[in-house]
Amino acid sequence: MGIFQRFFGGRKKASDGSHAVPTQGGAAPTMNSQRAEFFDAMATEWDTTTKLNQAQEQQLADLIDRLNIPEDAVVVDAGCGTGVLYKYLAPRIGSKGRVFGIDVSPKMISLAEAKFAHDQRFSWHTGAVEELLEEIAPEGIDRIICYSSFPHFSDQKLFLQVAARALRPEGKLAIIHLGSSDEINGMHSDMGDSPVAQDTLPSIRDLTTMAQDISLAVQTSQEQPGVYFFLGASLRPS
Ligand SMILES: C[S@@+](CC[C@H](N)C(=O)[O-])C[C@H]1O[C@@H](n2cnc3c(N)ncnc32)[C@H](O)[C@@H]1O
Repeated sequence: MGIFQRFFGGRKKASDGSHAVPTQGGAAPTMNSQRAEFFDAMATEWDTTTKLNQAQEQQLADLIDRLNIPEDAVVVDAGCGTGVLYKYLAPRIGSKGRVFGIDVSPKMISLAEAKFAHDQRFSWHTGAVEELLEEIAPEGIDRIICYSSFPHFSDQKLFLQVAARALRPEGKLAIIHLGSSDEINGMHSDMGDSPVAQDTLPSIRDLTTMAQDISLAVQTSQEQPGVYFFLGASLRPS
């Protein structure tokens, strides 16, 4: 049983097959605020319910290794949740590296802050990544990592455009899942009446086309059952 089913009991689509999203009186909330509310509700138990087994931890460590994070890098963990990437990034960024964790869910961010306040190299920010990315590190970013978060960004093309602008020359954007797009999309669509039910991870081929359209050079695109790994490089001249 996946994380969303554990929390919400695997609610299915309505009988007419629609993906109606319930609103709570008054004006319909924006998609980002609906997602923030959805992930807020999961935050307290997030670490327990999404805990990786040893093989998955090793798989994720190997994928992060493939980012070749430079010493003293500026890194953004886009859609950081409770900071699950902390243990993979902390040993790889050198003493002067910095990681900006960004998430729309205030509860996810406050849990990350509580766990990792001792490490001054990391800072945690509530907000939409497509809005914060450029202002958070105006000097430019070496690595932007979307781990299990890209499908939830409400405007993926806009995010890719902002990311391409925010990267330094030599900078890279990584989109990582421990599952193929079919696997991830199947899990979301099983949540027929939740704000994430229609959140979609494009096939790696479609993502490659999207990235090329906004001038990111595709370095790696790999997709198979159990793994999705995209690495795009800035085309900015150094
Ligand atoms: C499936 S969770 C993954 C969290 C974390 N990366 C992990 O693997 O544990 C997706 C996260 O993306 C966040 N998110 C969704 N849309 C976002 C946006 N536009 N900007 C920043 N974070 C967003 C959600 O609040 C949620 O915490």
